[in-house]
Amino acid sequence: MGAREIRPGIYWVGVNDRATDLFEGLWPLPHGVSYNAYLVVGKKAALIDGVKAHFTEELLANIAEVLPPERIDYLVVNHMEPDHSGSVPHLCRIVPRAKVLATQAALPMLERFYGISEGVRAVADGDTIDLGGKVLKFFHVPFVHWPETMATYEEAQKVLFPCDAFGGFRALGGVLFDDEVDISEYEDEILRYFSNIVGMQSKAVLRAIERLKGLEVAVIAPSHGLVWRGDPGHIVKLYARWAQMDAAPEVTVIFGSMYGFTARMAEAVARGVAEVSVPVRILDAGRVHVSFLIREAWKRRGLILGAPTYDAGIFPPVEYLLRLLERKRLGGRIVGLFGSYGWRGGSVEVMRERVEALGWELVDAVAFPGAPTPRDFSRAQALGEAVAHRVAGTAAA
Ligand code: FEO
Repeated sequence: MGAREIRPGIYWVGVNDRATDLFEGLWPLPHGVSYNAYLVVGKKAALIDGVKAHFTEELLANIAEVLPPERIDYLVVNHMEPDHSGSVPHLCRIVPRAKVLATQAALPMLERFYGISEGVRAVADGDTIDLGGKVLKFFHVPFVHWPETMATYEEAQKVLFPCDAFGGFRALGGVLFDDEVDISEYEDEILRYFSNIVGMQSKAVLRAIERLKGLEVAVIAPSHGLVWRGDPGHIVKLYARWAQMDAAPEVTVIFGSMYGFTARMAEAVARGVAEVSVPVRILDAGRVHVSFLIREAWKRRGLILGAPTYDAGIFPPVEYLLRLLERKRLGGRIVGLFGSYGWRGGSVEVMRERVEALGWELVDAVAFPGAPTPRDFSRAQALGEAVAHRVAGTAAA
């Protein structure tokens, strides 16, 4: 895309990645992702964050549109994950005089990841660097996303560079700023990024928001996705809501099914939710990638899981989803369970134990043998209605 000035003397010099299929080797990228790096130019120049290693030449070309890369005085490493730090070794070779600035916790990582130990300086929380006309201030925000993470704030132009925080999936399609797009078209990919990548660290996200809230911020410039200059408060509110496990008064039904018995019950469950006029989304865990399932579970307060018994336990796609939701520490869900079994149960019982361990509110659980009978369909519909009433805060008729 080339360099783009986001405030006087501050430039986006990142790249769009539409070639990587899986972020972190795990999460699909149907719309790509951007690695946002920023050049802050005063009398001295600082590059804030970087890109994945094999995009370094594109980063350098973008920087060269503003100034010769050899003129960079500081490489600010807010976060060591290689989607941002991968370009650091090459940059250090090109600009050996540049100082690498990072938290103390990042220094052993710089050495282990890239063999970099010379020309490195640890910055403390609250430290500043005067670039001449621009001043960078550093805030430690551990575990957003890794323990060494920090955010950088440019005081003259009031720009916050929070790295992974406030980022989202989706490459920048010719646009850069929130006020250039319809945000509602981006929110799903921002939430998928939040829930997949930083959701596990929701408490750290809330601590970071608290830590940074006194700052006067004109622009939030994260390291993935849109740059927020029209309404920076909007992305902070979204992140705070998701980190607090606040969700829509709606229901997600996620099921797995081998021969259609549990799938048919899922339809009856969804029917029950709809009967109470609560919005419902139904998804097949065997066919929808778990990345999207996690997002949908994060989005709605009600979660009804259906899985047949398989190898005396939970049907694997639903078990995998539950495991990841545990690891992402999703909280505050109102839950129903259902599933078929052949000759003895297992799935619903194991799901019940897992849900109770998670501290979710279990409304009811329905296990049934073989193909669902009319009575089973009635029980499934009643399950949907009961969860929907709890989610909506209404009383059952
Ligand atoms: Fe975008 Fe945790 O790296």
